[in-house]
Amino acid sequence: MDGNGRWAKQRRLPRIAGHRAGVEAVRRVVEAAPGLGIEVLTLYAFSSENWKRPADEVSDLMGLLRHYVRSEVKDLHRNGVRLEFIGNWRALQPDLVALLEDARALTAGNDRLTLVMALNYGGHDELARAARALAADVAAGRLEASSIDASAVAARLDTAEWPAPDVVLRTSGEMRLSNFLLWQSAYAEFVVTETLWPDFDAAALASVLAEFATRERRFGGR
Ligand code: FPP
Repeated sequence: MDGNGRWAKQRRLPRIAGHRAGVEAVRRVVEAAPGLGIEVLTLYAFSSENWKRPADEVSDLMGLLRHYVRSEVKDLHRNGVRLEFIGNWRALQPDLVALLEDARALTAGNDRLTLVMALNYGGHDELARAARALAADVAAGRLEASSIDASAVAARLDTAEWPAPDVVLRTSGEMRLSNFLLWQSAYAEFVVTETLWPDFDAAALASVLAEFATRERRFGGR
């Protein structure tokens, strides 16, 4: 969800105003997604590298997340949205972790849309954790090292439950993966839009899907 900072700068506003406007874009997109046929929507809200940002911005982002979950969870639940999290999110502040656990529990039975928030998420960290889980299974005699294949790795990723993404969208013209779903994106269609995240809406999301529909997918075949 890139471009919050630039959106604010263009308006001579503090960065937090850009992040706040980013939360409004999250609301619009989450509302539009099920109607566009999206079943799983993963938002990269806070990366394991975002801790390098100034402390006040980190604290603003955690505050926004807390506010979003508190104020939206009932509506999300009413709208059939299941809220889930990937990344090392259990290492966040204990009150926030408790809030996220409650939101997960409340919405666990919903299936209109699964909204996955990547929180304290990094692809390298996720793969390292999966490697540790594999090593622990081998050490405990539950798994043969020689039988470790791609599906054994995938089963130990945070995303084990969901299919690989069809589309990875990056806003604000950035052409990087930035440690997002590294394993899972192997055959994802990459779409880059110049739109800054706070300007993103249902129409912009529909254009991304229209672009996706023009792609010929071969998954390594021909
Ligand atoms: C990147 O823009 C955006 C982030 C690091 C944070 C995204 C977070 C939110 C939209 C709010 C919290 C999330 C939820 C789901 C409530 P940037 O700051 O790098 O912008 P720039 O590239 O223009 O500098």
